[in-house]
Amino acid sequence: MEEYKPTIVAFCCQWCSYAAADLAGSMRLQYPPNIKIIRVPCTGRVDIIHMLRAFELGADGVFLSGCLVGDCHFLRGNIRAAKRVESAKEILRSIGTDPSRLEMYYNSSAMGPQFAERCREFTKRIIELGPSGRRVSKAA
Ligand code: FES
Repeated sequence: MEEYKPTIVAFCCQWCSYAAADLAGSMRLQYPPNIKIIRVPCTGRVDIIHMLRAFELGADGVFLSGCLVGDCHFLRGNIRAAKRVESAKEILRSIGTDPSRLEMYYNSSAMGPQFAERCREFTKRIIELGPSGRRVSKAA
């Protein structure tokens, strides 16, 4: 039987988590290759529609990774993102999708090991949940 490899989309703030992912790579820390990182200027730029669209396009799990609370370069972008994640979780719940397929994380640029660990944990969670079955269309 073929091993299930979930598709995971990670919206990473360029100032912190994207740099943390880079650091994890430089440190040769292993994290699952099925995580597709999308670099954003701030997690506050990620709207609910982006999260839901990722599921529509075939993601089994989605997470946002922003600066530590208090360190957002746009002051409250990560706080706004966390609120949007909670709203998107409600929408997922209302359509019968486990809301734990969506998560908000905070990582500084120095947190390469923690970033890698979160990627591994989240991937494990999504593997346990199985495919989301929410894919409705192909990317344009
Ligand atoms: Fe990093 Fe806002 S600048 S989360």
